[in-house]
Amino acid sequence: MNLKELFDTYRTRIDSVLKRHIDELPDVSNPLAEAMGHGLLLGGKRVRPFLVYSVGSMLGADDELMDAPAAAIECIHAYSLIHDDLPCMDNDDLRRGKPTVHKLFGEAQGMLAGDALQTLGFEILSHASFPKELESNQLTMIRILSSSTGLRGMCGGQSLDLLGENASLSLEQLEKIHRHKTGALIEAAVLMGALCIPQIDPKHFETLRSYASAIGLAFQVHDDVLDVVGDTEVLGKPQGSDIENAKSTYPSLLGLDKAVEYEQSLYVKAVECLESLPYETGVLKEFAKYIIERKN
Ligand code: IPE
Ligand code: IPE
Ligand code: MG
Ligand code: MG
Ligand code: MG
Repeated sequence: MNLKELFDTYRTRIDSVLKRHIDELPDVSNPLAEAMGHGLLLGGKRVRPFLVYSVGSMLGADDELMDAPAAAIECIHAYSLIHDDLPCMDNDDLRRGKPTVHKLFGEAQGMLAGDALQTLGFEILSHASFPKELESNQLTMIRILSSSTGLRGMCGGQSLDLLGENASLSLEQLEKIHRHKTGALIEAAVLMGALCIPQIDPKHFETLRSYASAIGLAFQVHDDVLDVVGDTEVLGKPQGSDIENAKSTYPSLLGLDKAVEYEQSLYVKAVECLESLPYETGVLKEFAKYIIERKN
């Protein structure tokens, strides 16, 4: 299977898993469940579930086992996007080619949809039944996902990102923002995939972490590049949002050419990490390339 086919396969799989979780929500508040469904189910590349599945299957794990961590991380990611688009944050009206959740359901329901998707992610991961030999890994996954979501990860990065609006940041400060707001969840996806087998050599685990750290940063650098050179229709979100919000980004700090050079150097770094692993790493290598070449 080539990368595109594999992407489609895992996207179809995770879409149906996520839909099942939304359909199973109790009928407490229809508008809230609907808002959650809008933010979670309608579109999205499913990059983080892809990483869980492809790292796990590279190591020999079963797809069924990876459904829970893949669904959990996509719930957290969807929550982060719903909040990221709120008027008090990036104030965007378009996401995944559709009106943002707060545009359709109002700010309060949007905020709650994000909150409830966050807890749904942890509900899915903590309630999943793993085989006995993976139970301790399940707890480790919950630890990794919670740290990479909160102040130590995504939320911490989002906070710095907002404080960095209209400011002139150093490259070091910008890297810190990107590693936290986006890199942390990408890293969590890779590590949770690796935890889908009972025992991975700690050295290989750390190498996968380094790979994830390189592609996680590259992912946000490329997101910044697309904000400049992308097309709203293809992006499914407003091109130029960073410029409008006077965000600190790689293109704004380094210029477009240097930002592109930088993401290429991160790709090289990611590939170097893979070379030292004794597994079939072709998919992860192609995926790293995709990250810096994607159009949305
Ligand atoms: C967008 O994430 C926000 C960032 C962290 C850069 P994605 O590019 O993964 O968005 P979807 O899920 O495909 O919509
Ligand atoms: C957001 O970064 C990263 C998140 C944690 C959601 P951006 O604000 O650049 O993401 P987009 O461009 O709106 O998707
Ligand atoms: Mg943002
Ligand atoms: Mg944004
Ligand atoms: Mg962006």
